[in-house]
This record gives sequence, structure tokens and C-alpha cells, in this order.
Amino acid sequence: MILEIENLSADLGEFKLNDVSLKVSKSDYVTIIGPTGSGKSILLETIAGFYKPLKGSIKIEGKDITQLPPEMRGVSIVYQDLALFPHMNIFENIAYGLKKRENSNGVIEEEIKRITEILGISHLLHRKPTTLSGGEQQRVAIARALVVQPKLLLMDEPFSALDVKMRENLRKLVRKAVKEYNTTVLHVTHDFDDVFSLANKVVVIKDGKSIQTGRPEEVFSRPSNDFVADFVGTNILDGIVAREENGLTLIRTSEHVFYSTDRAERDEKVKVSIRPEDIIISNTLLASSAKNVIHCKLEDVIRGVNLAWLILSCDGLRLKAVVTPSSIASMGLVVGQDVFASFKAVNLKIVG
Ligand SMILES: Nc1ncnc2c1ncn2[C@@H]1O[C@H](COP(=O)(O)OP(=O)(O)OP(=O)(O)O)[C@@H](O)[C@H]1O
Ligand SMILES: [Mg+2]
Repeated sequence: MILEIENLSADLGEFKLNDVSLKVSKSDYVTIIGPTGSGKSILLETIAGFYKPLKGSIKIEGKDITQLPPEMRGVSIVYQDLALFPHMNIFENIAYGLKKRENSNGVIEEEIKRITEILGISHLLHRKPTTLSGGEQQRVAIARALVVQPKLLLMDEPFSALDVKMRENLRKLVRKAVKEYNTTVLHVTHDFDDVFSLANKVVVIKDGKSIQTGRPEEVFSRPSNDFVADFVGTNILDGIVAREENGLTLIRTSEHVFYSTDRAERDEKVKVSIRPEDIIISNTLLASSAKNVIHCKLEDVIRGVNLAWLILSCDGLRLKAVVTPSSIASMGLVVGQDVFASFKAVNLKIVG
């Protein structure tokens, strides 16, 4: 275990970190999600050593570091806003931390060459930070954090100041770099794309408490309570198990019957979940293999940059589905119209 946090509590006056426990294995990529003000940044900064915990412990590689000053922890941190030294060029910025422990100029140059090649910034070494684009500056910040080969890389919304294309690009580079360096990462984000494309573990934080931890697919498709379901946008329906049919479980909700590949006892009251992206929307009844097809009215469309949320009213059932803005146009979807919502039995999970 590279990081073991046990019952960590911190008191910052109006805000408290409340009994957080977390275990992280070597090379895990952990994303931390939760509403604004829930304590994600405070958790990272407590791990980094900027806040003194009231109780609990933080162990890195089995060693209790709870009382150690930040610079003794072997932890690097990358922030959303660029924190490069403006008077130093890029080479000096990246070399800064390395120089504290490495005297040989040859080794320093070698290490900087390695990380800047991975992150595609080796052509920028002579430049000053202000002459770089936001994406380039953030790659430098990540290079500076990684070059010292930290035991733990902490990142607090590292991509949120960048546009969508640049984020995608940076995700690929970060994935490559942390793999190459075998780094363990804790990454705070509001962008679920980060969770799915980078992480093997996700922690949901609410009011300074850790609410659910697990693999991303597990947390998103089997949220442990209504708060998590709502936060990650998962649809949760109440139902009763009717019977088994051809290896599928039939679940009755007040107005519908659905099929799931999950198992449960007959007559058991259950909650079932369906992810918005697993719902296929169509104007006509599709000839598809999806076992669950229902008729709905399109109540509302909430447009985002890359995605649009559809709010559906389906005979007393409300569902959220997600599509691309271009498919709204190509299907000619308008609020108030009738649509069909289809989803596979394998995507309808019994969550409790
Ligand atoms: N130094 C501090 N002293 C007291 N309270 C603080 C301090 N820093 C932050 N807080 C408060 O603690 C709460 C949690 O803050 P934190 O920055 O960890 O939230 P967050 O989950 O990172 O939110 P966001 O997603 O907006 O970044 C907030 O209510 C904030 O106002
Ligand atoms: Mg924050």
C-alpha cells in the first residue's frame, strides 16, 4: 500500500474534514469528485502537509508522515492555476526541485530530457513561462512535479483552465507519463471524462466525508446512495422482483417491467440503476437487441458543451439520458415530442 489514510479529521473553523479513510496501491490513479466546497482541495492539501489534522494518520509506504513538513513527504502537487516561477525559464522551472537532491548537471539534464520528451515540451526549455500557452504551461507544471519522481502526485483540477481539446490532449500525455514513471496519482476533478479515461479508482466526497470509493464503473453504475446517484447523474428506479425469465430478472416498477441480467430474490424490493449514456433515444421503435424499450415524452433539453441532457417523462417515470448536441439536430428532437428510450438488460443494475 503506497498511501493509507485512517480516520483523518481536520478542523478549519467553518469546515471540517470528517473521518476520511482511504487506501491507495502503488500505480493507482485515483480521481476525487464531489460538489464544490465539499473538501476535495482540503483533503489533498492535508495529505500534502499544509493543514494539521485534528486526528487520524497518513502513511506513505507504511511510514507515518502525519507530522512531517510538506517537503519531507515525497509528494508533488499540481494546481489548476499555473504556478510557474515567472523569472525562470522552463528548464530552470523544471530543474528547481530536482536541484535540491541532485548535484550532477548531467543527471539533471538527462532527467529533464526524459520528462520533457514524454510531455512534448522539449522545444520550450529556453522560453519564459509567460510566452507559453495555457496547455504548454500546464505540461511544464506536470513535468516539474513528476521529474522529482514523487511517491505521490497530487493534482487539483489540473485541466480545468484548458479548453476541451487541450484537456483531451493533456489526458493522453498524463496517462503516458504516469505509466512511464509508475506514479501513484490523486486527481481532483469536476470532469467525469477524467474519471473514465484516467482512473482505476474514484472517491466521492461530500461535506468533508468520503461517501463512496470504488472502481469508476462500479461507483457510477452502483452508487451507494441517492446522493452519489444524483451527483454522478445515474437514474435510480424503485422496483420489485417479479420473476426469472430466460436467465434474466424481471423487475416491476409502478408502470413498467424491465429486464436485468443481475440476480435477486423473487418479491424482493430493489433499487435499479441505469446510466444516462446507456439509454438510446429514437424517434421510432428500433429493431435492436435492447431488452428494455419504453415510450417517453421529451420534457426538457439541457445543453452542455459536448453533451446534452434529455429529461424524459415515461408514464410516471423520470429518466435522464445523454446525447451529443449534433444528434439532437439530426434527429430533429424538440421538447414535448414522443420518443422511445431503449437500454440493454446488462446495463440495468440492481443496486440495493
Ligand atoms: N483555509 C481555510 N480555512 C477555513 N475554511 C476553508 C479554508 N479553505 C477552504 N475552506 C472552506 O472549506 C470548504 C471546502 O473547501 P475546498 O476548497 O476543499 O472545497 P473543494 O471541494 O475543493 O471545492 P471546489 O470544487 O470548489 O474546488 C469550503 O467551504 C471552503 O470555504
Ligand atoms: Mg477545490
